[in-house]
Parts: sequence; C-alpha cells; structure tokens
Amino acid sequence: MILAGLATGAVVALVAALIPWLPSAASTQARQIDNVYWLVTIICVIIFAIVGGVSIYAVWKFRAPPDDIEDGSPIHGHTGIEIAWTAIPLALVTAITVYSSIVLHQVSVVSKEHGTIQVTTQQFAWSFTYPSLGGVTKGDLVLAVGRPVELELKSLDVIHSFWVPQFRMKQDAVPGITTHIALTPTKIGTYPVICTELCGLGHSSMRAKAIVMSLAEYGKWVRTQKGAAGSVASSTGGAGQGKALFTSAGCNACHTLAAAGASGKVGPDLDKVLQGKSADFIRQSIVDPNAQIAPGFQPNVMPQDFQQKLSSAQLDALVQFLVSATKKG
Ligand code: CUA
Repeated sequence: MILAGLATGAVVALVAALIPWLPSAASTQARQIDNVYWLVTIICVIIFAIVGGVSIYAVWKFRAPPDDIEDGSPIHGHTGIEIAWTAIPLALVTAITVYSSIVLHQVSVVSKEHGTIQVTTQQFAWSFTYPSLGGVTKGDLVLAVGRPVELELKSLDVIHSFWVPQFRMKQDAVPGITTHIALTPTKIGTYPVICTELCGLGHSSMRAKAIVMSLAEYGKWVRTQKGAAGSVASSTGGAGQGKALFTSAGCNACHTLAAAGASGKVGPDLDKVLQGKSADFIRQSIVDPNAQIAPGFQPNVMPQDFQQKLSSAQLDALVQFLVSATKKG
C-alpha cells in the first residue's frame, strides 16, 4: 500500500518537475533558491501522494456493508507506527531547516568586488542611486551581467518590498533602517521590479524595470550617465530638473502627464486638473494635497510630506515644470 503511494508520488513529482512553473532564472542566487523550493515541493508531493493513496485505499478496502451495524474492533495504538510518524517528519523538517539556512547564508554573501546601488522606496515609486556615478538617480535599476551588486534599501514612508521574480531575491525596505540584498545577474534582459508589500492604494502600480546589460553596453551607459550628471547640475532650478524630479519623486507612479510620459491612474490626470492653473495652485496641491481634492478622488491618498522630502529649490523646479507642462495650449 505504502509502496503504491510512493510510486504514485514519484511519478507525480517527476511530472511536476518537467513543467516550467517558475520564471526564468537570471541570477546566481536563483539556482540555489530554486533547489530549496523543489526540495520542499517534492517532499510535499510525496507525502500528499502517500496520505491520499492510503486514505482512498482504506475507504475502498474497509468500507462497512450497508447491513453491518457492529462496532469496529478496538485498537490500542501501535508503537512502531507512532515512532515512525514522529521520527520521519522530524527528520524531514530538520533537513529542510539545515539546507535552507545554508542556502540563505550563501545567497547573502556579498562578493568582495561588488558595486553598491542605493534603492529608495516611497508611495509608490522606486528610485535607484549610483554612488559610483556621482550619485545619479534613475527610475529603473540598471545592472551589468555577471557583476555582483549590493542593494541598500531605504524607505521614506511605509514598508515596501523589493522583488524581481527572475532574480528570486526579495527584501523589505523598512522606514528607519537600511536593509541589504546581494545580487549577481546572469542573463541579459529586462525584468520587472515589483513591490510585494501592501503599501497603500498605489501598491499594485509600484513597479520599475531591472535592466541587465552586456558589459560593453553597460560601459556605454555609464559614460552617458557621467555626462548627464554634469548637465543636470548645470541646469539646477530649471524646468529640466523639474521634469527629472517628476519621476524621481515618484509623481509619475500615480499621475498622468503627457509632458513627462507618465500614465499613472491612482491620482488625478494632471493634464486635465492642472490645465491653465497658477503656480500657487500647483504648489499648494503638492505640499497640501488635501486643500482641494479633485472630484472623484479621496483625501489622504497622496503623501502630504513633499514639503519635507523636497528642498525649496526642487519644489520651485517641479512647480515651474508643471506650470509649463500644463499651460493652456
Ligand atoms: Cu510599495 Cu507596495
């Protein structure tokens, strides 16, 4: 009976292993995490098959005929079986614990020659800062294939969680502390960065891209960024800086604005509600969003701390950009 269960379990596990359930693996850490995942899954499938097989067999074999109203024969336990059903799960759970702690340790090790990228999260946007490029900040995560990096995660408001399914690695960004995650991408491509901690109304739209480039392409990208860092500094205070801020401060995650290529749907469409509005109105809408709520929207959805998050020069630049972007045509 148990042999039949084991055989079914083995067949089911084999079929399950042949279907590509998981997204493609694109980091050195992914292989090890997948091994843990499959170890646990195969153990569960085998146990499920044994329990299911024994239950179905028992229902069929020991079924009482309709006219049988006798009590069953008394049973007083079975020491051998009791030892087995205690010892086997204990051994399995211990094996899973030991194996996953080893893998957890291995995937957390940061290689000595790693790059560092600072990840800042806020409702409902990601920004990635590259200290090695003079502090350039981007809305997407750009990585070079085969180069280990350490991400330092910070949150400006509530708990968010960084996850790229193809990298398998996941880490919370918690206000007040810095958390870390190590990654070595192994496949060129573009993957989604997903927030996996319910963080408010715009949680489902809190996405960015992780772009893994070849070394040559990455080198080219680094050179253009170094050039860009200089030109942003020289245009400080202009509408150009305001446009960059619109993305780095996360406005684009919730709002639609054609001039910034933004199509967020959580908050009002800025091309409509700000059209022809004065700089004062726009400034108030940013620093005190509850003062005037656009019809059809709720108060307290938009963060109310942009006055603290942005310097007054940044705020001026953002307002200036929004005025010019929503001028009545
Ligand atoms: Cu940030 Cu969910």
